[in-house]
Amino acid sequence: MKVLVATEKPFAAVAVEGIRREIEDAGYTLALLEKYTDRAQLLEAVADADALIVRSDKIDAEVIDAARQLKIIVRAGAGYDNIDLEAASARGIVVENTPGQNSNAVAELVFGLAVMAVRNMYNGTSGTELRGKRLGIHAFGQVGRNVARIARGFQMNISALDPYCPDEVMLEASVQPLHDVKVLYAGNDVVSLHIPATAETRGSVGYELITSMPKNGVLINTARKEVIDEEGLDKALAERIDIKYVADIRPGNADALMEKYPGRVFFTPKKMGAQTAEANINAGIAAARQTVAYLRDGIDRFRVNR
Ligand code: 3PG
Repeated sequence: MKVLVATEKPFAAVAVEGIRREIEDAGYTLALLEKYTDRAQLLEAVADADALIVRSDKIDAEVIDAARQLKIIVRAGAGYDNIDLEAASARGIVVENTPGQNSNAVAELVFGLAVMAVRNMYNGTSGTELRGKRLGIHAFGQVGRNVARIARGFQMNISALDPYCPDEVMLEASVQPLHDVKVLYAGNDVVSLHIPATAETRGSVGYELITSMPKNGVLINTARKEVIDEEGLDKALAERIDIKYVADIRPGNADALMEKYPGRVFFTPKKMGAQTAEANINAGIAAARQTVAYLRDGIDRFRVNR
């Protein structure tokens, strides 16, 4: 059986070695397609694959259709908005993610971005500290919980909003539960986004919420660009010259924003929240183990489609 690892943004070499070990020890063959630049390469590589391990690689109906032998797709990471679940389900293909495996890496980057923002992008002028500031965590999943853990070390006052998370989980983490998105934005100096890109969240953070932030507010996005209403963000930044937006995902209007609001916006060149050796090893090996567990024993514990 062939397990294809297709990663346009490759894992660290040490993670690939670990994945190879898991796959080959189970008696399967590993095929590696890294840094591919052409979709045709992916379509060709999946043709005889029994299993597919990917990161943010777009696995749409066309790819699924080209993969005639495919039984399982594992997204080595958290968000699976890059995979057409319906097309996979229609073919009886299992889709899984590896929740929690890269969340510390993303959470650490949140603070890399937060410190940079409050120190005025390191431009030499006097900034502010995070200690004593109010942090609002928008969604309290695995990444949000790691953000809270690190924020406690910074001595921030932490609150979070997550309709899918019981208040007790937040209270146990010394986080104040909120139930109104308006309060989350209006009441926090720093807001960190951790909502997935779904029909419900797309474009849900825009002008109203951003302009409701307190003076010198910082909005951090290490989640997905789709959750931002980009026109609304632009309008908010034009009106509120004290607000900063720092993100690990370049918005569609990144160039225009950087030109219009120098020193107030920052975007990593490529999504790199989960791009650490540790996260690659954790998520990559988990993906390989889950693949083997399914191919060999039919175990689909992390299945996200039905
Ligand atoms: C995730 O959803 O796990 C993160 O966004 C990381 O994505 P990546 O594997 O493309 O870096």
